[in-house]
Formats: sequence, structure tokens, C-alpha cells
Amino acid sequence: MKTVTTAALLYLCLCATVAVSDDSDTETALTAAPGDVALLPCYTAGNVTPSLTTWLKDGQEVVRGGDSSSAANPAAQRLTVLRDGSLNIMKVIRGDEGTYLCSSTLPGNNTFHARVLLQVASSPEIASMSIGPATALSNGTLIVYQGSTVFFNCSGSSYPSQRLIWGFYGASFANMSLIGTLGSWLDYRIEDIQPSAQGEYRCSAHNTVSHQTVDNSSQLLVYYAPDRHPECMWTPAQDPSHILFNCTWFGAYPTPTLLLGEDRGEQGARRNEHIYATEVTDSLSVTLNRSLLSDGQTVWCMGQHLTLAPGKEKSCSLTLKLPYPEGQPIATALEGTSITLTCSESVSMPPASTTWRRGLQQEYIVPGSKYVLSEEGPVLKLTILNISKDDEGVYFCRSENTLNVTELEVYLTVKTSSTYTGVIIGIFIAALIVGSTVIIAKTIYSNRHRICLGNSQSSTDAITNASNVT
Ligand SMILES: *[C@@H]1O[C@H](CO)[C@@H](O)[C@H](O)[C@H]1NC(C)=O
Ligand SMILES: *[C@@H]1O[C@H](CO)[C@@H](O)[C@H](O)[C@H]1NC(C)=O
Ligand SMILES: *[C@@H]1O[C@H](CO)[C@@H](O)[C@H](O)[C@H]1NC(C)=O
Ligand SMILES: *[C@@H]1O[C@H](CO)[C@@H](O)[C@H](O)[C@H]1NC(C)=O
Ligand SMILES: *[C@@H]1O[C@H](CO)[C@@H](O)[C@H](O)[C@H]1NC(C)=O
Ligand SMILES: *[C@@H]1O[C@H](CO)[C@@H](O)[C@H](O)[C@H]1NC(C)=O
Ligand SMILES: *[C@@H]1O[C@H](CO)[C@@H](O)[C@H](O)[C@H]1NC(C)=O
Ligand SMILES: *[C@@H]1O[C@H](CO)[C@@H](O)[C@H](O)[C@H]1NC(C)=O
Ligand SMILES: *[C@@H]1O[C@H](CO)[C@@H](O)[C@H](O)[C@H]1NC(C)=O
Repeated sequence: MKTVTTAALLYLCLCATVAVSDDSDTETALTAAPGDVALLPCYTAGNVTPSLTTWLKDGQEVVRGGDSSSAANPAAQRLTVLRDGSLNIMKVIRGDEGTYLCSSTLPGNNTFHARVLLQVASSPEIASMSIGPATALSNGTLIVYQGSTVFFNCSGSSYPSQRLIWGFYGASFANMSLIGTLGSWLDYRIEDIQPSAQGEYRCSAHNTVSHQTVDNSSQLLVYYAPDRHPECMWTPAQDPSHILFNCTWFGAYPTPTLLLGEDRGEQGARRNEHIYATEVTDSLSVTLNRSLLSDGQTVWCMGQHLTLAPGKEKSCSLTLKLPYPEGQPIATALEGTSITLTCSESVSMPPASTTWRRGLQQEYIVPGSKYVLSEEGPVLKLTILNISKDDEGVYFCRSENTLNVTELEVYLTVKTSSTYTGVIIGIFIAALIVGSTVIIAKTIYSNRHRICLGNSQSSTDAITNASNVT
């Protein structure tokens, strides 16, 4: 098509050249659109009626007429010579463009020449554009997804030639003309389209002859969703018998739909799910009654978005777990020293509130000169300073979450210096007993070759027996 346009241009240039070399009395340039009535003047200097007028187009006679003669050729009815010698073209068609020469014989036997350059130009009624693959909203706005390849095609039907331009008017980067060309259509492509390419795309068809321009434009929106999944979290509610399950998923355009629900495990072939809430939002929370929650139950949040195909939704979930504080249940300390009791809570979901308590009444332990409380990640430490016999007794590491309370019971024994010595002696004796057993076992083991008399199988038995003896 480009070639055709170029040819048309070239043709016009040639006409111009011919016209210049021609020797005529007047020169007129006219532009008409197809379908128009065009009147090409000949002698305009006075009110005279020429006896004969001949019109030539590009050197060929097209019509002649005057006072006495009328158009003989019915095919030439579209072209008629009026009384004053001017050429009337009833309905201009494409192809009528060219250089017209008239020769009029005026009274007094003078011959008059005139040259008329006729251009035929049709401006496009529409500039057609197609953008795709895209989804159209009811108001005509087009939707594409981030990362996709989008094709743009603009076309017009200007005659004889047009300049097509794709323009971009966006918020993110400067307005600009993307590309322009002469031709019947102009295509353009954006690979891996990004939100910055969101804006208005305008296709303009500019007729190079008539200088008329028509535009067509469309708003393009680029939708996107973040790669990361939503964030699920627990927040304590004001009412202690309830808890807030909060889900957030920021960074999607347009706003996603969040679903909050609960997985009640398999029930037959189907998963038994219960949906608490669905909303078009990027942050959603539900208040759950703790009486409805149980250990091992899973609550989830799913983010749905237009850019994610069904089955590719992003989600997060939390599985409820009872608190489970862990630590040594027995501790022994020497009077006058200090001791640190440790308790670790890393299982609880939602996170537990863990505290140290004292005695069967479970009194709160208030930090001060006697007690030092510290926390290192999931580990809670209680340091008791300057231990006395009064400190002996039961301590609780009490861990509570929405589901229930679990306690770790730690019994602290306080030894006076004398009983402590006794303990050490006791431990020494115990060690002696254990040590001698080891020695006996070792002796039997190292003498196993003497015990075993038969094959290797019985020797194994002998060793097994020997260890059982210990
Ligand atoms: C007009 O001029 C032409 C030549 O220029 C000549 O042949 C013709 O006889 C003339 N006619 C009259 C009526 O003078
Ligand atoms: C814009 O382009 C579309 C698609 O080609 C066409 O249907 C519509 O008529 C055009 N509008 C104008 C004003 O050119
Ligand atoms: C078309 O609708 C979309 C979504 O409702 C909106 O964002 C956009 O601005 C609208 N476009 C026009 C041109 O009204
Ligand atoms: C662009 O549109 C024109 C007119 O509809 C069509 O002839 C041409 O093939 C299209 N070009 C591309 C690359 O799709
Ligand atoms: C871009 O073009 C639009 C519409 O023609 C105009 O409102 C806006 O101010 C322009 N922005 C810049 C940065 O040129
Ligand atoms: C949910 O979490 C978000 C982000 O931390 C926070 O802005 C929002 O207030 C929370 N919602 C509720 C109801 O606590
Ligand atoms: C929570 O559940 C308990 C027991 O099922 C019920 O008595 C109580 O009314 C519920 N609370 C709310 C706010 O629904
Ligand atoms: C340790 O406790 C005893 C009594 O239980 C007290 O007399 C002593 O002053 C305490 N020592 C320190 C350093 O607090
Ligand atoms: C908490 O645990 C205790 C002891 O295991 C049990 O009796 C009680 O029913 C539990 N409470 C809830 C709300 O599950």
C-alpha cells in the first residue's frame, strides 16, 4: 500500500511539472472530494460566451462544447461544458484528479487557454483502531494484563494519501507520538506491558492533501496483581472471647476480592469449607467466636483477581494450635544463689500470651529486686535472686491463647549448704554404682570371644545376653 501511495504522490509531482511547462493564460488549483460537484473555470476575465471550448485532461481531450455544439458522447454526461466555457463535473470520482486545460474561442477569433489543477481528496470519516488482545468495559475502556503483549493497529481511508499517527497520553510518562507513517494502516506492539503504559491511545489519520484529520482514541488500563500471597494474621479482639482474623493483600489493581474461610478437613470426597466473608477490598478481617475454634482447625484467606486464572488464586492460611510451653519440670537451687527457670512457647497459634506464676494460687510474678523476667524470642526466663527456703515450691509457665490455657509446672527445691553437700555425695555414690556397672559390662564384652563357643550367630546372642545382664 505504501508503494501505491508513493506512486500517487509521484504522479501529482509529474502533473505539477507538466503544468509549469505549459503556456497558459490562467492557472487555478482546485480540490474536490469524491461525490462533489466541481466547476473548473476557463475564461473568467469577462462576461463573454465562447463559441467553442475544448477541455483536455492530461493532454487528452475529454469534452468539447459551446454555443452551438452539445456533448455528443453520453458517456461524458458527467462532464459538461457550460455556456461560459467552464467544465462542470457532476460527481467527482477518484481518478478525476489531474491537469485540465481549456481552449476557448472567444469572440474576435481570440483563443484563450487556462489551466486547472484538480485534486481529489477524501478525508476518512473514521480512523479505525484495534487494540488487542484486550477486554472492553461497557464504557469502551480497554483492559490488558501486565506482562502481556499488546498489538495496536490504526487504519484510515484517506484519498489519495494519509499520514497515520499513534499517540500516547499517559499519566506516567510524557505525552508522545509513538510512530507515524504514510500508508493505509499502522501497527504497533508493546511487549511485556507495564502499568506505566496505561493511558489514552489515539490514532490519527491526517489527509496529506486536504489536511483534514480524524482521530479515534481509547483508554487503556493495565491490570496487575502482586506475586506475593496475602498476609494472614491474628489480632486480639477487644472482647477476650473473640479473636480477629485479619488478611491483607496490597498492590493489586484494581482492588482484589478477598475471601476468608475455614477448612473443616475432608468430609467424604469433598473438602468441607466454610466461608466467613467475601469482599472487594485489600484488607479484610472477621471476628471469630473462640467457642467455635478448635485445635488443628485451619482458617484461610484467598485473594482473587481478574489477572489470576481460576485455580491460580493466591492464599495464606493459619492452623490453630493449642499453647504448649516446654521446659524442665524440676529445678534445684542452693540457698543464697540465684536460678533461672526457662520456658519456651513456639507452637501456639494464634500466638499465646505466656506468663510466669507462682504457687497454687498462680500469683503473678512482679519483676523487681527478687525476680527478673526476660524474653528471647520464644523463650521466657524467670531469674530468682538470692534464693531462700521460702522460694521453694511450684512455679507455672502459663501460656494462653484463644483456644485454651496450657501450663508448664516447675518445682523448685531449695537446698541449704549442708543438704547440698549430701546431694553431691549421693550423686558421687550413684556415679560410682553406674561406673562399676559399666566396668563389669565392658569386661564381659571384651571377653566375649571366650564366652562364644559356636558360630557368629550365637556370639551375637552372647553379646545381647551380656548387655541384658547389665
Ligand atoms: C480565425 O482564425 C483562424 C486562424 O487563426 C482562421 O483560420 C479563421 O479563418 C479565422 N476566422 C475568422 C472568422 O476570422
Ligand atoms: C474508532 O474505531 C472503532 C474501531 O475500529 C470504530 O468502530 C469507531 O467507529 C471509530 N470511531 C471514530 C470516531 O472514528
Ligand atoms: C470506564 O470505566 C472504568 C472502570 O469503571 C473507569 O476506570 C474509566 O475511567 C472509565 N473510562 C471512561 C472514559 O469513562
Ligand atoms: C491493520 O488493520 C488493517 C485494516 O483493518 C488490516 O488490513 C491490516 O492487516 C492490519 N494489520 C495488522 C498487522 O494486523
Ligand atoms: C498530555 O495530554 C493531555 C491531553 O491532551 C493533557 O491534558 C496533559 O496536560 C498532557 N500532559 C503532558 C505532561 O504534556
Ligand atoms: C488488618 O491489618 C492491617 C495491616 O496490618 C491493618 O491496617 C488493619 O487495621 C487490620 N484490620 C483490623 C480490623 O485490625
Ligand atoms: C460465642 O459463642 C458462645 C457459645 O456458643 C455464645 O454463647 C456467645 O453468644 C457467642 N458470642 C457471640 C458474640 O456470638
Ligand atoms: C538475701 O536474703 C536475705 C534474707 O533472705 C537477706 O538478709 C539478704 O540481705 C539478701 N541479700 C541480698 C543481696 O539481697
Ligand atoms: C481447656 O482445656 C481444659 C483442660 O484440658 C478443658 O477441660 C477445657 O474444656 C478446655 N477449654 C476449651 C475452651 O477447649
